[in-house]
Amino acid sequence: MEVERVQAVASLLSHSTQDTIPAEFIRPEKEQPAITTFRGPVPEIPTIDISDPDEENIVRSVAKASKEWGIFQVVNHGIPTDVISNLQAAGRHFFELPQEEKEVYAKPTSGEGFKEGYGTLLQKDIEGKKSWGDHLFHRIWPPSKLNYQFWPKNPPSYREANEMYAKYVREVADKLFKSLSLGLGLEGHVMKEGAGGEEIAYMMKINYYPPCPRPDLALGVVAHTDFSSITILVPNDVPGLQVLKDERWIDAKYIPNALIIHIGDQIEVLSNGIYKSVLHRSTVDKKKTRMSWPIFLEPPEEFIVGPLPQLVSEENPSKYKAKKFKDYAHCKLNKLPQ
Ligand code: SIN
Ligand code: FE2
Repeated sequence: MEVERVQAVASLLSHSTQDTIPAEFIRPEKEQPAITTFRGPVPEIPTIDISDPDEENIVRSVAKASKEWGIFQVVNHGIPTDVISNLQAAGRHFFELPQEEKEVYAKPTSGEGFKEGYGTLLQKDIEGKKSWGDHLFHRIWPPSKLNYQFWPKNPPSYREANEMYAKYVREVADKLFKSLSLGLGLEGHVMKEGAGGEEIAYMMKINYYPPCPRPDLALGVVAHTDFSSITILVPNDVPGLQVLKDERWIDAKYIPNALIIHIGDQIEVLSNGIYKSVLHRSTVDKKKTRMSWPIFLEPPEEFIVGPLPQLVSEENPSKYKAKKFKDYAHCKLNKLPQ
């Protein structure tokens, strides 16, 4: 089955003089960004300098943000600016290729789960609505699990740019896991081990949200929490990420060179609910292409994740079932109870 790409729809609409979008992209009112975005004064998503020589300070800030927000931005993360700009340029060039060149990397349309490859989310929600975006998805770590057939050959810099980013982003991930552990009074290695240790898969997604004639009615990605333990995201300079905080949808500010860190479901489970996975969505822009490069840190499929025993007691009973990551993902994808 041929899947219609949002980029192709947007390209056709860009020649029209009318601001209309196909009905399947129009969200129900309770989701429309124009109606539901909070426009009053709001607190900012916390920003944390992770080069602070005072490690306790970092630990305190990471723990506080992960409890109260489930999301924060990090600055001075140690990834060189050119490593990030090369990653962004390579992804942008791929999406600017002619449609048929991108389709070479199309993911299989049958089967379940987050498959590697070029794709368009076909929403399974009740309203049958579509999201305004396409994406490319593939592992970038560990080396033994890479499927290079899903890595674009064009631009030729694609592979090196992604490999370089993988090398640096792992150091950021290790630092975050350590802070999340210490922030709960645990030894530094505990969280990472509970989330898959050296087997953690680094899943790169490139989101491509073309200009949308009706950004007031559409969404790039509908509200969700991430399946991952941690998500580490590089944005471009077109804002659009929103988080639900105190029942209000608020915008994430674009901070040049910052990484956006989402606490995902697996950290919420490991911490027995002390850290919160953040509900978020993405909006789109009328004139500009929005892009983002999240990396989802996922446990291996057969790896069992449950609340850390150190955090469970008679006074604090376990709030989540321990289960294989693949079973967690299956239940979530099919909207079954966990
Ligand atoms: C996502 O949550 O998958 C996308 C977030 C973004 O594009 O900023
Ligand atoms: Fe997400």
